[in-house]
Amino acid sequence: MSKRLQKPFPALYPVPVTLITCLGSEGEPNVFTASWVGTVSSSPPQVAISVRPYRYSHVAIEQTGEFVINIPDESLLRAVDVCGHISKARADKFAMTGLTLMPASQLKTPLVAECPVNIECQVVQKISLDSHDLFVSKIIAVHVDEALLDEAGFIDYSRTRPIAYLGNEYWGLGQRLNTSGFFRRETR
Ligand SMILES: Cc1cc2nc3c(=O)[nH]c(=O)nc-3n(C[C@H](O)[C@H](O)[C@H](O)COP(=O)(O)O)c2cc1C
Repeated sequence: MSKRLQKPFPALYPVPVTLITCLGSEGEPNVFTASWVGTVSSSPPQVAISVRPYRYSHVAIEQTGEFVINIPDESLLRAVDVCGHISKARADKFAMTGLTLMPASQLKTPLVAECPVNIECQVVQKISLDSHDLFVSKIIAVHVDEALLDEAGFIDYSRTRPIAYLGNEYWGLGQRLNTSGFFRRETR
């Protein structure tokens, strides 16, 4: 392997593709695509999303202290692309994409009905990182499409078709490689 040294850039891949819903100051819903999103703690379960301060959605999240992470599947790729390139300041993304909303269980912010998984989040801390603000948030509730659940009530990930973001490209996932800790079961 011969490596070429490069200048720092956001090199980590893959990152998830999510649709974030939030509520504006007049109570109007908005949706935007976000990939600077990650799990940051297990107990209590916490996630963090990074949002550019000048985004329309940034004001909403800062004011309400809440948002929903909606996980789209491959069938929603066009909506993902629209919501990642069009601002609420210019157009109604729900009308453009056909995405619809349904009520959350704990938050005022609604869920994207077409996304199979929705994670209700309450902001606990905002950290300014220059180009982006990081909203560290507690997971308040999670909604999962029944069709994804196995008999024991766990997500059967072979049924999910998440979208990954690599560089500026959307990718689907390949096949399952193994289960965490599989090396312990290996026979010598
Ligand atoms: C794949 C993808 C990922 C994105 N991830 C983020 C992100 O993590 N944070 C962010 O601030 N903007 C991100 N964007 C850009 C916003 O989705 C985009 O600027 C959107 O129009 C903002 O909507 P708003 O102006 O209605 O808030 C991403 C765009 C794409 C296409």
